[in-house]
Amino acid sequence: DKAGHRHYMSKEIAEQPDVLANALEYYAGDNEGGQMLEAGVDFSAFDRVVMVACGTASLACLVSKYWVEQIAQMPVDVDIASEFRYREAPLDARTLAVFVSQSGETADTLAALRYATGKAGKVVSVVNALESSIARESDLALPILAGPEIGVASTKAFTCQLAVLASLALQAGRQRGTIDPAQQRLLTDQLRQVPGQVAQALAIAPQIKAVSAQLARYDHVLFLGRGALYPLALEGALKLKEISYIHAEGYASGELKHGPIALIDEEMPVVVLAPHDGMFDKTVSNMQEVMARGGKIVMISDGPGLKDGGDGAWQKVEMPTIDGPFAAIAYAVPVQELAYFTAVEKGTDVDQPRNLAKSVTVE
Ligand code: F6R
Repeated sequence: DKAGHRHYMSKEIAEQPDVLANALEYYAGDNEGGQMLEAGVDFSAFDRVVMVACGTASLACLVSKYWVEQIAQMPVDVDIASEFRYREAPLDARTLAVFVSQSGETADTLAALRYATGKAGKVVSVVNALESSIARESDLALPILAGPEIGVASTKAFTCQLAVLASLALQAGRQRGTIDPAQQRLLTDQLRQVPGQVAQALAIAPQIKAVSAQLARYDHVLFLGRGALYPLALEGALKLKEISYIHAEGYASGELKHGPIALIDEEMPVVVLAPHDGMFDKTVSNMQEVMARGGKIVMISDGPGLKDGGDGAWQKVEMPTIDGPFAAIAYAVPVQELAYFTAVEKGTDVDQPRNLAKSVTVE
């Protein structure tokens, strides 16, 4: 049931404010889920976190690395499961191992979990399907509460993974004493504002649609971001290639001059994710390097950001202004919709892209 939407993907994108509100009520609202986290994981018993997943789920892990390191001062290694499972990575009792999977059945992630079992101090999974192998075989399974995700391209599961991982980062900071009560309150407040910000981001769909009509004419697109927005740039590129079949790459803005800038010309638009945060000036200077070489910029920022840095951009998208470290969650919306509207414009099969399966149960 697509609830009046043309595709499951657009229905699932639109559901995000509701499912995120549920997930955050559960994990960041002092009730059942929060208690489950509290009882289930004691971050002060660990020295580091290893996070393992595939595809979009691994990008959720990469976003949360920024949060856990910043908020809880705890080193985080993020790995893709197909590499981790064969690498003989050292794990010990002071390592917390976290496996993230929407389906809970991804073969590589399950194999990686089995590798970690008995070596890591604790094995936690973050899953959408609680009745799954990955959930069953972990010491603690945390549901992301996204509801069934039918579209092959992951959307609401990604943002719900982020919501759960952000709640874990806050708990880690609390348990390790790296944030004081005032900071805890501020961060919890900022996290609870995410569903509203995602709703505001959904309201700018007409802007995204207009940009997508342009992007559909190109064969290559580059996505740039810094900090927690860097994994979002990777996610933007993954989504676009997956459903519109346009070649796309995501890079950390600061890596641009170490290679990819050689590709820049007017035939490869560059989507820049640039909230007006502490990294903004750096990102804008990377953007200017692109423009100086004839590159076309799609700048996705907020009002202050577009005002300060938007000069010369080819296309501009205005997001709400968001304070704090969790802005990356709302930026998932324009990233998902760019892919969605571009695919619709090109007429590709959005919910069933060629060569892809929803659940990858073979290696
Ligand atoms: C991308 C996508 C895939 C999955 C990946 C992991 O849109 O859907 O990259 O994220 O196959 O799947 P799960 O989360 O089920 O382990």
